[in-house]
Amino acid sequence: MPRYKQSSINEVSRRNNLVELVSGYVHLKRNGTSHIGLCPFHKEKTPSFHVDEDKQLYYCFGCGAGGNIFDFVMRAENLDFVDSLKFLAQRSGVTLEEEAGGRPGQSDEEAALRKRILEMNRAAARHFYENLSDPKAAVAREYIKRRGLDQKTVVKFGIGYAPDEWTDLLTAMEAKGYTPEELVTAGLAVKNDKGRIYDKFRNRLMFPIIDVRGNVVAFGGRTLGDDQAKYMNSPETPVFHKGRNLFSLNLAKQIGLKEGLILVEGYMDVISLYQRGITNAVAGLGTALTEDQARLIKRYASQVYVCYDGDEAGQKAAQKAITLLTETENIVKVVSFTGAKDPDEYILKKGAESFRTLLKEAHESIEYQLLRLRQRYDIYDLSQKISFLTEAAKVLAEIESEVAREAYIKRLSAETDITPEAIKAEILKLVYYKNKKQVTKEIYQSARPERLAGEETGFNQSQNTATYKTERTLLNLIFFHRRAWELAKEAVQPEWFSGEVHQRLFQAIMAYREKNEEVHAPDFLTELSDESVKKSAASLLYINFEGDSLQAAREAAGKLETEFLKKCAAKLAGEGKVKEANEIYRRINARRG
Ligand code: UTP
Ligand code: MN
Repeated sequence: MPRYKQSSINEVSRRNNLVELVSGYVHLKRNGTSHIGLCPFHKEKTPSFHVDEDKQLYYCFGCGAGGNIFDFVMRAENLDFVDSLKFLAQRSGVTLEEEAGGRPGQSDEEAALRKRILEMNRAAARHFYENLSDPKAAVAREYIKRRGLDQKTVVKFGIGYAPDEWTDLLTAMEAKGYTPEELVTAGLAVKNDKGRIYDKFRNRLMFPIIDVRGNVVAFGGRTLGDDQAKYMNSPETPVFHKGRNLFSLNLAKQIGLKEGLILVEGYMDVISLYQRGITNAVAGLGTALTEDQARLIKRYASQVYVCYDGDEAGQKAAQKAITLLTETENIVKVVSFTGAKDPDEYILKKGAESFRTLLKEAHESIEYQLLRLRQRYDIYDLSQKISFLTEAAKVLAEIESEVAREAYIKRLSAETDITPEAIKAEILKLVYYKNKKQVTKEIYQSARPERLAGEETGFNQSQNTATYKTERTLLNLIFFHRRAWELAKEAVQPEWFSGEVHQRLFQAIMAYREKNEEVHAPDFLTELSDESVKKSAASLLYINFEGDSLQAAREAAGKLETEFLKKCAAKLAGEGKVKEANEIYRRINARRG
């Protein structure tokens, strides 16, 4: 991929107006310097999507989506950065200039290889598809019919056929100028010990795996005979990494942002649902869900319905997927069904309407976890009831929202005939220990900032504390107001910020200020590579500050320093260094006086 000059990127950003662009997607109403409309990235009835024309930033107060014009296009059009840059360049008539010297030679070779493999995959997909109309493909056509797939679906998914022969694809591809060795590299052929090269996929129904940009990156093939391996997938190649792709995301991505994605296990589940009008299902590719896939879902889906097979293996896999999806901040719902082994069989037997009802009735994942616990224990047995409640309390202790927690407590209470107060006490105990652990960790980390540098902190700052808000205010002031920045250069330390994200953002702002005479928030966002830092920046730069910025920065900085010193003191006290701790307390008090 080419690297474009920063000046080109900045020009594209200047020549496109965010308000005008967004108006093509959302009806915006002017309100002061903001333009407000319904968020295109989540479902809502009252508008919380704001675009600031002066800053050229957007921010949704409902779902937290925010950023500059590139971020908007990336999300609205499902493009990566380079493609969104090209999209906007074209829209505004800017000619993009590549970085002089380009990338090192090896990368060019790599890019050429990738391009060649993608070409081969496309040609192979066409060949498999054309095979289907061959007289020898009767067995495949018969199978397609038996599985209930119609011609439109076959075309939509580009389903094809690899006959029971050793060199069907090889021969066809050689005629098109591809060498057998190249086919091996693309994962379409294999080479045995004796050096003989033959087709990898034989006697199989072929499903092309297409990425979000429309490239055929790999294949899955289902045996039409009794091969040990029911499904066979392309190996990892320069264009295919199993763990980073999802089957049918190319078809599901648009609707995913509005209605969510349905995660199923198999190719056939996706295809069968699609034919019956449920077009937002995706599947992993024959391995357990990976973190990359979970992030991919987060990027393309407003929420995710986990709909795995009903058997024991499926439910175990679902549980793991749910954990991973929750950890990557997806909104997770769990679809459960009976009377069929998988979604394909379910929709064949009961129809699309019935499946839609399943989606509507999908359990929130907390609910799902409680349901599973409930099935494990016999609550008419006293000791089992206690175990059940203890386990359930652990689940509920994870809920942030007080209201939601109350609701579950009420239900548990009715179910078990134990008072809500008793259940609540149990939960609060757990929450208390959790918070205590968190605070201890905070103190430890703030007091030893030198350890933070290369260390994975994994430390989630609570986003509602006064300190957190003070940090956001200070970062905003430093970015937009020169005098606040000068103050920060003199007097603010990175360690004063309580989490890795804010610390890194502070350092990024300071560095940006140092090299830019004028600040421009959209450019700054473009330069940030870390997703969480960027997200945090997009949201806090949206704030407008009125009043004396220097005075406000001084106050904010003072508060953060005091917080920091207190933590240091607590840490010292905890280690028994009372004298040192007192010395710090004395300093804090002196500052106040
Ligand atoms: P299933 O065995 O549940 O597939 O495996 P299925 O979709 O119900 O298959 P049909 O209905 O019999 O055709 C689910 C997924 O696991 C992967 C495939 O991606 C499959 O779609 N898998 C399964 C493999 O990679 N290899 C296998 O041998 C089996
Ligand atoms: Mn199946």
